[in-house]
Amino acid sequence: MISDFLRKRLSKYFTQQDEIIFTNRVPDNELISKDIHSISSLGIYLHIPFCERICPYCPYNKEIHNKTTSKNYVKAILNEIDFYAPLLNNKPISSFYIGGGTPTTLLGRGIEKIIDHIYNKFNMHCHIHMESHPNHLTKEKLDNIESMGVKYLSVGVEALQDKHLMAIERPYSVSEVRRTIERVVNRNFECVNIDFIFDLPGQTEKEVYEAGHIMIDMGIQQVATYPLFRFPYTPLGKSAHKNKSAVATMFRRRRLLKILEDIFYNAGFERSSVWAFTQKGTEKYCSVTVPSYLGLGASGGTYLKDLFYVNTFSVAEYINSIAKGNTPIALSLDMSEEMQMAGWLYWRIYETKFNKRDFQFRFNTGFDEKFGKPFKILNKIGFLKNGHDQITLTDKGTYWIHAFEDFFSIDYINKLWGTSRTNPWPENVRL
Ligand SMILES: C[S@@+](CC[C@H](N)C(=O)[O-])C[C@H]1O[C@@H](n2cnc3c(N)ncnc32)[C@H](O)[C@@H]1O
Ligand code: SF4
Repeated sequence: MISDFLRKRLSKYFTQQDEIIFTNRVPDNELISKDIHSISSLGIYLHIPFCERICPYCPYNKEIHNKTTSKNYVKAILNEIDFYAPLLNNKPISSFYIGGGTPTTLLGRGIEKIIDHIYNKFNMHCHIHMESHPNHLTKEKLDNIESMGVKYLSVGVEALQDKHLMAIERPYSVSEVRRTIERVVNRNFECVNIDFIFDLPGQTEKEVYEAGHIMIDMGIQQVATYPLFRFPYTPLGKSAHKNKSAVATMFRRRRLLKILEDIFYNAGFERSSVWAFTQKGTEKYCSVTVPSYLGLGASGGTYLKDLFYVNTFSVAEYINSIAKGNTPIALSLDMSEEMQMAGWLYWRIYETKFNKRDFQFRFNTGFDEKFGKPFKILNKIGFLKNGHDQITLTDKGTYWIHAFEDFFSIDYINKLWGTSRTNPWPENVRL
């Protein structure tokens, strides 16, 4: 396929590798500990892989909640925290994100215990950012969430027209979800984010425009607006029309996103990542705020400078391996310097602005020396608002450079997640 050929050539240009291969080699504790100490700041990611029902478009690692399984899962996470505590050796943790699945499925079912244990065993210097499902946000559960120390809360609203909520099988109506958000914004969170999916089947520009204004009226501090990605291994991806033009899709999404950009900018929001807009002056809700992180739970991924590894995706295998005193790590990748640089650039582009001097500090190499040529072209075609040291992407640049990145990332996710969800212990995965 021509796209595979192109992907391989471009990947080689950025990483200097013929192929990126994850293997089942488990890094030893000494190496993990050494890597942790060589980095300046570390984040924690906690994965809660349970939901009450499964949405047909969702690519994440999750399963239907079951009381016995989740009880054993909580126990396994507590053990994984105990495993890392001596390796961290009091290393300060500067960001903490709980994602899923649906973390709020475990409210009153052990998530409080996990958080307590993390704050007891790790040297935490941060507040909690957490995802939630709108149907879980009753008054009592919000009390619970606030008392756990969550200051940044995201709610999966997804659509603001009943027909679209129904089409993507979300179990609430627009008026219900609006009442929920009203309850949430009247609490004391630093930042309330809502997730919104656009480019849904049959969605018109007028509907996106109306939804954008409803979001502003809700009084939230941030919106994350993703186009509907069709992952081939999801029920929605399997049923998608194969003959839809990828180029037409890209241009249609750009038009829809532009409608939302205009609404959010007029309302005093600014872009905080490719898909997110945050009220000026508010610290953003986001998944990882530091370049290195430790992932806990089934499918949790850990990135430590030159080492990337992922836990088994299977909840049952995660629980069993920890109960037997074995590692839940399923796949790992040694990152060459070139791969680290490409990864660094991917995430800085995702954040839409960065300083060249941070690259120099991290890699001891000038940014222009490494990426000067392509960035000169990007500047010429109006994709950058270029200062001396700080690079900021224009809206046009943000969209198109990220569309180019998605050419790799969606394919990589399909291969890595697609394999890991059917095989708990793959021998290797070739990207
Ligand atoms: C883990 S879920 C959020 C929390 C909770 N599970 C829920 O659904 O309300 C993360 C978010 O990813 C987004 N998402 C999931 N699948 C997507 C897809 N195929 N395309 C675009 N966005 C998607 C949704 O906006 C969703 O809120
Ligand atoms: S979108 Fe949220 S609720 Fe739906 S299956 Fe995915 S994680 Fe679960």
